[in-house]
Amino acid sequence: MRLFLDTANIEEIREINRWGVLSGVTTNPTLVFKEAIDPEQVWKEILAEVDGDVSLETTEPEAAAMYEEGKHLATFADNAVVKVPMTPAGLEAGKRLVDDGIRINVTLVFSPAQAILAAEIGAYIVSPFLGRIDDAAADGMHALRQMCEIYDVQGYQTQVLAASLRHPMHVVEAALCGADIATMPYDVFSKLVKHPLTDAGVEKFLADWRELKQKLGKEGA
Ligand code: E4P
Repeated sequence: MRLFLDTANIEEIREINRWGVLSGVTTNPTLVFKEAIDPEQVWKEILAEVDGDVSLETTEPEAAAMYEEGKHLATFADNAVVKVPMTPAGLEAGKRLVDDGIRINVTLVFSPAQAILAAEIGAYIVSPFLGRIDDAAADGMHALRQMCEIYDVQGYQTQVLAASLRHPMHVVEAALCGADIATMPYDVFSKLVKHPLTDAGVEKFLADWRELKQKLGKEGA
């Protein structure tokens, strides 16, 4: 399962990128809004920093304008993936973009039925929003499991990107379901590496090493 960061913050991306595990980035209008800088500048900086897929979201509600916007976003870099929403207009614009050879990510997906539609237009990625499904008192992980199973049974090539992940166990469960990609905020990514026994183990090893060096130093004197 490839790991993506769900952010438009370049510092967060640079930090996680140094770990050597970052395969891509997803952005959305809300995340770009938080940066309060020109969106094109934000996107281009991220596209240059990341050696992998970067999703840029369309904001035009009508199909024709969304298609033109998507074509424009795709020109920013080879690793740009154009996000379209799971709406009739999004499907129409998305299909036209796919026909032009542009890779699309169908976003705001909440049901297996919607995931089938995304695969049928030949989307490169489909993004089910697990956390938001849970927020609506439903089972996001169950929906993801069904989507992965349907794609498997049907032989769809569209990659399933588990989105709206809120904690490390969401990431673990998404991997068990067979998701191709998991995208998560910086906070969740940072928690993946953490374990109290790792911290305690490192502390003990370093303390013993210091003591050994001290002892050897004394004996040598
Ligand atoms: C994914 O592409 C979305 O940007 C994201 O995962 C949404 O997550 P949220 O529900 O935490 O806003």
